[in-house]
Amino acid sequence: MYGKLVGEEDEALKKELVITIDGPAGSGKSTVSRILAKRLSYLYLDTGSLYRAVAYLVSKEGVLENDEQAIYGLLKSADIRLRKSGDGLQVYVDGEDITGLLRTEEIGIMASKISALPLIRAMLLPIQRKAGASGGIVAEGRDMGTVVFPGADVKFFLDAGENERIQRRFMELSTRGEGIPYGNIARDMRLRDLQDRERTIAPLRPHEEAVIIDTSCMTITEVVEAMLGFISNS
Ligand code: DC
Repeated sequence: MYGKLVGEEDEALKKELVITIDGPAGSGKSTVSRILAKRLSYLYLDTGSLYRAVAYLVSKEGVLENDEQAIYGLLKSADIRLRKSGDGLQVYVDGEDITGLLRTEEIGIMASKISALPLIRAMLLPIQRKAGASGGIVAEGRDMGTVVFPGADVKFFLDAGENERIQRRFMELSTRGEGIPYGNIARDMRLRDLQDRERTIAPLRPHEEAVIIDTSCMTITEVVEAMLGFISNS
């Protein structure tokens, strides 16, 4: 084994890689993925927003969240689009920008329930794969490394202790002016974790090759720098 030449890391970073970041709610993956994509000048693909867009549609149309056929029908006639906007993504459903409506607890729980439906996952799979087809992407979700991009160049799995994740979510919602009691956030997060980890299709788990990072005691900058280190050495 020999050391890298000066500048070789930069060359590695210039390749158009597919980087996946999976992990539970509150693990810091959204913030970190966005920053990482910006640092690498890659596309940031937030796949949770796709499931949230479906949840938004389901709630708007008054369809039951476990009625797979009805949701399938709804999706077949809907036009869901993701548009790059600054460092993030904007989500459009039938021409309406619904980005600002998706980050609520209610939509998150509904998205988690809907995401256990095989037909719906199958419909969203090609959209996600197409976005990463030519590389240069940081794809964030629950099954990026295991199902959507199993051949990804670098796979990360971010985690953090449950209390830390609940606290982060509480702070995030409080900053946004959503005064949801701590106990409710804790209950919702535990429910969502359970649903996402225990569903039969594409459950939340690290790919065997994934670099697992426990972010509990790390700052965002430390996590991003650690990831950039792994990427340049991969
Ligand atoms: O990352 P998020 O909180 O926006 O995701 C909302 C829900 O969507 C999550 O609880 C489970 C589901 N989801 C999924 O099943 N697979 C993904 N790749 C992304 C999200």
